[in-house]
Amino acid sequence: MFDVRRLGPRDLGLILDLQERIRASLADPDVFQTSTPEFVSYCLADGGLCYGVNHGTGTVAYRMVYFPRDRDFNLAKDTPLPPAEYGRVAHWDTIAVLPEWRGHGLARLMNGRALDDVAGLDIRHLCATSSPQNPAGVGSLMRAGFRPVRLVRKFGGKLRFLFYRPTPGAWPVKETTATKPPPERCLPFSDTAGLDQAFREGWVGVDIDTDRTGPGLRLRRHPLPFTGQRI
Ligand SMILES: CC(C)(COP(=O)(O)OP(=O)(O)OC[C@H]1O[C@@H](n2cnc3c(N)ncnc32)[C@H](O)[C@@H]1OP(=O)(O)O)[C@@H](O)C(=O)NCCC(=O)NCCS
Repeated sequence: MFDVRRLGPRDLGLILDLQERIRASLADPDVFQTSTPEFVSYCLADGGLCYGVNHGTGTVAYRMVYFPRDRDFNLAKDTPLPPAEYGRVAHWDTIAVLPEWRGHGLARLMNGRALDDVAGLDIRHLCATSSPQNPAGVGSLMRAGFRPVRLVRKFGGKLRFLFYRPTPGAWPVKETTATKPPPERCLPFSDTAGLDQAFREGWVGVDIDTDRTGPGLRLRRHPLPFTGQRI
């Protein structure tokens, strides 16, 4: 019913059309960062990996992965990742599903395929951003194994969670004892100052907390997998 396929340079118009239709459908377009034709073309060529989901005769969703390589805009620069590793970073860039096809697991489908593909490359670190105002975007990344580790300002000052996940393995599970469960805390997505401080003190988001009026983040203290130390 739904088929994922790799997109190539001939699919530029397709992505730009979907991008515009999806942007226009959003109540708050600020949560969805659109890409220039030049950037999309770069990802469609050898600068990344792009996927589309076919349904019937049309394409109803796309995902872009971007290899920042030595370019300035490398999200790892906002983490303690050693610069020698920057070439092994991929950005989980834009993902978008036409409104009528949301909730059908298409984000999950495309993320799974992209994770399988990067596992075969010399890529070890995945970074992504999502607006705290976009719980669907945050949830989609967390279900793909990403964890928010920072709050950053991107795209001309817009507030974003910065996510990290290692690849091909997942985040290591922190050892706990049966008698002493790991300390946990919850902060609402709206508590920018509290979240910023928690991330800097070495807490990372492990789950979305829906047991409150607005979305929140459940946090645990956890070192970033590549440091072995708290950030
Ligand atoms: C974020 C987005 C890509 C998620 O895509 P999706 O295909 O709907 O996501 P999935 O179906 O894989 O997963 C959504 C989860 O929410 C649930 N859900 C139920 N109804 C839903 C709905 N109407 N919309 C979204 N999710 C819904 C799904 O059951 C699923 O939960 P599960 O994995 O526990 O089963 C999509 O909402 C979207 O395109 N948003 C607009 C663009 C955007 O904000 N992109 C992210 C920033 S780049």
